[in-house]
Amino acid sequence: MASSEKLQLGVFMPNCSNMPSISTHAVVADQWHYENNERIALLAERLGFRYLFPVSRWRGFGGTTNFLGISLETNTWAAALLRATRSIRVFSTVHVPLFHPVVMAKIGATLAHMSGDRWGLNVVSGWSEREFGMMGITLAEHSRRYERTGAFVDILRKLWDPGQAPLDHHSEWYTITAGVSLPRPARMPEIANAGVSADARAMTAEYCDWSFMSGASIEALPALVNSVHADAERFQRKVRTAIFPFPLWRDSASQAEDELARIIEHKDAEATGNWLRDIGAGSGSFDTFTENMLAASGGGLNLIGTAEDVAEQLQAVHRSGVNAVMLTFQDYERDLQRFATDILPLLKRMQIVDTSEA
Ligand SMILES: Cc1cc2nc3c(=O)[nH]c(=O)nc-3n(C[C@H](O)[C@H](O)[C@H](O)COP(=O)(O)O)c2cc1C
Repeated sequence: MASSEKLQLGVFMPNCSNMPSISTHAVVADQWHYENNERIALLAERLGFRYLFPVSRWRGFGGTTNFLGISLETNTWAAALLRATRSIRVFSTVHVPLFHPVVMAKIGATLAHMSGDRWGLNVVSGWSEREFGMMGITLAEHSRRYERTGAFVDILRKLWDPGQAPLDHHSEWYTITAGVSLPRPARMPEIANAGVSADARAMTAEYCDWSFMSGASIEALPALVNSVHADAERFQRKVRTAIFPFPLWRDSASQAEDELARIIEHKDAEATGNWLRDIGAGSGSFDTFTENMLAASGGGLNLIGTAEDVAEQLQAVHRSGVNAVMLTFQDYERDLQRFATDILPLLKRMQIVDTSEA
């Protein structure tokens, strides 16, 4: 389903070490530092990007890279970035089983008040035994995770809605009696869910504004987007879609393909294997990725070629109905500047991107 809206640009930020490739080739090991994240955020804002999304991780995936092993916590990260920026929207990524919704309602309202309502929430239901086992928390079965996430988001929305106070909620997951959380955000924050499975889509359709997805190929996107819209229609709701492409461009397509081959040649097989073992059970998000595609960009959509090729691929992404792309880069600072010079002018000429201030 093609969208008449323009494509919004965002960055899937390097708040974790080793983003975005599970590889030892051409890694910028210290991109995760806050100062780097702030420079990238300010540059993205200057270029008219609309969104910053972080990754939430509590430990890495071992191997030689310990992929994502160092990470900045995303609510505190968002607080600092929201104060450093003026117009870009900054999301936190929050593991539902680790935060009580009353606590999260206050964290979110605080971030909204600090930022003129530019904060948003990306919920993740959790999947890594390595992380949850470390904390002594048992991961629920796949569909049950999303039942809990649905309850979590429902509670948040109600705590943030003056018409719903005081809130009584009694479910298997939470007991809230005469619940209140003040202050409330002046505007309801945007809420995204990261995940693709039918369970994820059903929950997103009922409660969320954004479906943040992985897409293994451009060809797979129209069906994904259509399924998100069809699910949302059952609740008379609209859900927007975002993906996280990995643009890798060089002067010639073969140079770009060679660079992709080098990333894969140096993949960290142990970390990739650890990741796949955990995420496999019941997941829909990465089912159609090969191990090499995962290693290349951590489950992002690889866009490979010249600048013109990448611009054309982004045009096809837009045509598929995707509303926003949270871009990842090999070297975020260097490549965001190259993106501004090499690719953004092409996208503007195609009239497919929205780089106006929100
Ligand atoms: C775009 C995207 C971003 C994600 N970000 C995170 C994250 O930051 N932390 C995390 O633990 N899981 C993350 N996930 C994992 C999902 O939340 C989910 O647990 C996993 O994709 C399995 O979902 P599914 O089986 O419902 O498709 C992400 C998934 C996608 C598709």
